[in-house]
Amino acid sequence: MTKVELASGIYWVGAIDWNIRNFHGYTTPHGTSYNAYLIIDEKIALIDTVKAPFAQEMLDRIQEIVALKDIDYLISNHVEMDHSGSMPETMRHMTRALVVTTARGKEGLLRYHKIDWPFMVVKEGMELSLGRQKLQFVEAPMLHWPDNMLVYLKGQRILFSSDAFGQHIASSYRYADEVSGIIPEAAKYYANIVMPYASMVLKALEKLRDTKVDIIAPSHGLIWRKAQDTETIIGLYADWSQGKAKDKILIVYDSMWQSTEKMAKALLEGISREGVEVKLFNLSNSDRSDIIREVLDSKAILIGSPTLNRGLFPTVAGFLAYLKGLRPKAKLGTAFGSYGWSAGAVKAAYQEMKEAGIEVIESGLEIPYVPDEEELKKCIAFGEKIARDIKTRG
Ligand code: FEO
Repeated sequence: MTKVELASGIYWVGAIDWNIRNFHGYTTPHGTSYNAYLIIDEKIALIDTVKAPFAQEMLDRIQEIVALKDIDYLISNHVEMDHSGSMPETMRHMTRALVVTTARGKEGLLRYHKIDWPFMVVKEGMELSLGRQKLQFVEAPMLHWPDNMLVYLKGQRILFSSDAFGQHIASSYRYADEVSGIIPEAAKYYANIVMPYASMVLKALEKLRDTKVDIIAPSHGLIWRKAQDTETIIGLYADWSQGKAKDKILIVYDSMWQSTEKMAKALLEGISREGVEVKLFNLSNSDRSDIIREVLDSKAILIGSPTLNRGLFPTVAGFLAYLKGLRPKAKLGTAFGSYGWSAGAVKAAYQEMKEAGIEVIESGLEIPYVPDEEELKKCIAFGEKIARDIKTRG
């Protein structure tokens, strides 16, 4: 195995999951990696482990560098099983190691693994000397679990950032500057995993405001090592967490007999006439995780649903339930759709959108059966009106 030394004495010893395509509901067409890091000093520390089926891959990488019995600390930044799943197997070999984690981390690890390892519980700001270098612990609760912790290696100025700043990408490369198209993947990751915890991101960024970071080593995907890349990803996390968006509107819909689809396309026409960027997604053949990435930098979302059994079409209901959990910040929106003899989808969509924290800016459009020429003109005018409104908002 090729050793990956990201700085003097600091090694990536994780595992690559080339074949995962669904990460608890988030689609991962490019796979992912579970990143663990080894720090060699007078004391030796392993930061996190990997998902259980990949334990041997990680252990093999470590043993090319050091004997497992010589490792002093296993630092657990995050309890979730993609990072702690290999701990029982790893700790079986690391006979002298202490498990270093937060109080919530210890609680979670005991709940998951039912093994009372020798623990060292650390708190915000505490430091651990490894000899020539010191680690500093930064608690980051709810980024995105209660136990999350970041670790900063002083001297070499490396931030081991747990799930923050990650991407789901499997690659034979280890660094962000070696792979193209990484920012859209980082955005998709943020939107689908981190977005509900935007305020926690801002808190963590504030804590790190005066900390010089040369390398960001996340728990998934590629490592940010170039100054311009670390600045870019930190800046993007700040923007996303504040809900910064551009003049862009998403139309997300489904259709039974193409009436709602005709409305969606007429809305798109109206928005385009105003020169505002617009993207359209039919939920029957679009990937939910990809749409959520598009939500991130959009100012408004238009939800289209035919009325089915007095309520929302199932795919639209599912999308709104997912969106509600992610709580996007500072979004505007409205709803539209067709119905037969009794409307209801638009009202139901409003309710869900409000619960997702979306500000409903216009009374939606509902059209019976099939929109005629005049009704499609109304849809175009409605699209133009929303686009003009969007342009006036900061
Ligand atoms: Fe990558 Fe929250 O686990």
